Amino acid sequence: MQFYTGIFSCLPRLETDRLILRPLQMDDAKDMYAYARDPEVSRHVLWDAHKSIWETRHFLRFARNQYRRGFPGSFAMELKESGRMIGTIGFMWVNPDYKSAEVGYSLSRDYWNRGLMTEALEATLRFGFEELKLNRIEAQHDTENPASGKVMAHCGMQFEGVMRSRVMNKGVFRDVAVYAVLKNDWQKSHI
Ligand SMILES: CC(C)(COP(=O)(O)OP(=O)(O)OC[C@H]1O[C@@H](n2cnc3c(N)ncnc32)[C@H](O)[C@@H]1OP(=O)(O)O)[C@@H](O)C(=O)NCCC(=O)NCCS
Repeated sequence: MQFYTGIFSCLPRLETDRLILRPLQMDDAKDMYAYARDPEVSRHVLWDAHKSIWETRHFLRFARNQYRRGFPGSFAMELKESGRMIGTIGFMWVNPDYKSAEVGYSLSRDYWNRGLMTEALEATLRFGFEELKLNRIEAQHDTENPASGKVMAHCGMQFEGVMRSRVMNKGVFRDVAVYAVLKNDWQKSHI
């Protein structure tokens, strides 16, 4: 776990065409609250829409504490053209014995359907395979959130099946689709 702890306590900045992925900061609160208060953004994820900016600040303190402890965490997605923080993407957990991990993400509704999460996931998978030396990266989405499955598929993740009533989201059992990509397959498509 030591290897992962070192990387997560000092997350690097990753760059894509339109985005900077970097550690979350306390002064992201305003931008994050602007989208995290939107029930459409939180609809298919396991967190509730933030009711006040204090809730957002509480989350950011928690996330920064996770970095300090070297636990898996998320990058802030910063749009290069405006400097605005518009979402998060990162690792929910990492299993060092199996070299496997799960990614998760959320994006402000103002920026949906422009290919931004596909761009961010591509960079996060590269980081997972090249820097974290993972063998398998998985992701899951509510079956009623097909846009998320499209993002996974665009990045070369394979659909592995549906787990019925896998999670309880906002009081309702939800079916979850699982996708994953293995290092060998990822390397073949990224030579
Ligand atoms: C899901 C989410 C991450 C997608 O991000 P995004 O930047 O809009 O994704 P992209 O633009 O890279 O790709 C979205 C794809 O889904 C498609 N799509 C959008 N709405 C869709 C729908 N209702 N049904 C099917 N496909 C849909 C888009 O057309 C696009 O596919 P295409 O490139 O083949 O045309 C974003 O909507 C989001 O953050 N939602 C709220 C939080 C969330 O659901 N997180 C994921 C939890 S698993």
